[in-house]
Order: sequence, then C-alpha cells, then structure tokens
Amino acid sequence: MTWTPQAAEIAREAGARLREFFAQGVATEYKGDVDLVTVADRTVEKLIRTRLGEVFPEHGIYGEEGTRERMDQEYRWYVDPLDGTTNFAHGFPQFCVSLGLEQRRTGLKPDEDGTILAGVIYDPMRDELFEAELGRGATVNGKPLHVSKTAHLAEALVATGFPSRKRHQSPNIHFYHEFTLRSHGVRRAGSAALDLAYVAAGRLEAFWEFNLNPWDTAAGVLVVTEAGGRVSDFAGGPFQLESREVLASNGLIHDELVGMFVDLFAGRGLAPIPTPGEFAAMRELRAKGLE
Ligand code: IPD
Ligand code: CA
Ligand code: CA
Repeated sequence: MTWTPQAAEIAREAGARLREFFAQGVATEYKGDVDLVTVADRTVEKLIRTRLGEVFPEHGIYGEEGTRERMDQEYRWYVDPLDGTTNFAHGFPQFCVSLGLEQRRTGLKPDEDGTILAGVIYDPMRDELFEAELGRGATVNGKPLHVSKTAHLAEALVATGFPSRKRHQSPNIHFYHEFTLRSHGVRRAGSAALDLAYVAAGRLEAFWEFNLNPWDTAAGVLVVTEAGGRVSDFAGGPFQLESREVLASNGLIHDELVGMFVDLFAGRGLAPIPTPGEFAAMRELRAKGLE
C-alpha cells in the first residue's frame, strides 16, 4: 500500500490555494500572544480535510486548525495546512503544507506513538515536493534525497525555531547563541517542516526546536530518517510526536549535538552574556578604534 501519491496530489492542490492567498494578501488575526492565523490556514485545512476524507474515508485527521476526525482509527493524518504562518502573513515566501501519516495499532494509549508511515511536505513557492514512505526512502520532486556528509558541527549549517506562545519561557535563545558560536551559522527560517526537509536534502546538517506539535514534525521526521538522517530527543533518546523536543541531523554530527545539549542543560556554556560594564568597555574600545 502506498499513500504518498494521493497525499502529494492533495498537498499540491493545497499549496496552489496558498499561492493564490499569498498573491492576493490576507488579513491576520491573533490566536494568542504572537501566534498568528489567517483565512488561508483555515480554508486550506478545510480543503485538506475534505480531500483526505474522499481518498481515505477510514483514516483519522488531526489538524492544527482544529480538525479532529475519526481519532479512534488505526491510521491518522497529522495536518499542518500552512507551516510558516508568520512568514506568510508578512509576505516572506518560506512556508509549506505538511501531511504525515501515523499507524496506531489497537491498544495504544492516547499519549503513545504509533509508527509514522508516510510524509509529504510541499513548498508551493519553489514547487518542491518532499516525500517519504517508511522503508522506501525519501525524494524531492521524484529525485532521491540524502543527508549531508559533514562530520563536524564546526563545519555545519544548522537551524532552529522559536515558539509563538509563551516566548518568554523558552530557553532556546541560549542554545541559539551557543550553536552560532560553534557552527557555520544558525538559520531561523520560520517553517519547521521545511527545516526538517532541508536536513533530509543536505542543505542543513541539523535542526532542533522545543515545543513543536505533531503536525509540525510527523512528516518531516520520516523524510529525515528515510534520507539517512537521525531524529531523537535532546538526550539522544527516541523521538516522540508529543515529546516537545526534536533534534534532527545527518546522523554524523548527532552525538556531538547531544553532547552539547547535555553540557548546556548542565550550565556548561561557552558564552556568558557580557555584563553592562563589559558592554561599556567594548563600546569604548570600538570608539577608540582599538577593538
Ligand atoms: C511554526 C513554524 C515555526 C516554528 C514554530 C511553529 P506555524 O508553525 O513551524 O518555524 O518555529 O514553533 O509553530 O504556526 O507557522 O504552523
Ligand atoms: Ca506549524
Ligand atoms: Ca500551521
């Protein structure tokens, strides 16, 4: 049984709708804090719900914009109709549609993960379709995908993201700072599903984020692992859809990254923030041309 051809068709149709909304411009509402939502998120989720219901009438659907259908079924689609809403709302062309299929065998508790069987991520602005099925590899526009061969964080380009709710509680800016000092750079492009797809494509060596939801990660983690990469929590343990920790990499730098998380959680960082006095001294040196 293969699911990706049908899911890919749905993702392409959804992406085409997003492109139209993007071209015409849409008003933005707040779900809370700085969590934005637009008519595009809602309309496209409805479209995907209808199409999945037509093609897979017995499958469940769990969508970011509130869809909860047939949640007791063995197969469940995690749907992010628009991953990268903040970008979309600002006219920044980095966003995608993400559809991930999980198989939940009988007897699983609600907080237990099943097996992710298929994932499709479509970037409508670049017309790039990332697909994966368990055990069958990953592709972009039909061409095989492979993670990069970079073996050290010091030579890696990595990515992360920040939550749009309770931002003040996120420790991630500290991690951002440390990874910036130890790598070629940290990108914060604003679409977690595309960040994962880019790890699979070897455009990034790694991606991490706190507090993502299953609709952000279900498709992307399979695309990464099927492209030869590794996905775990920050301690190197198994990734779980509800675990709120995702660390994805090309595999080669994974242990180094986990070691860094262990160090940083234990307070062994490289980069203490300068005190106000140190900032003043730096400013003075710069003014004298001595920096
Ligand atoms: C967001 C994006 C972003 C990530 C946020 C997500 P949304 O999803 O994936 O990159 O940093 O944590 O919430 O809200 O645009 O679907
Ligand atoms: Ca998302
Ligand atoms: Ca979304």
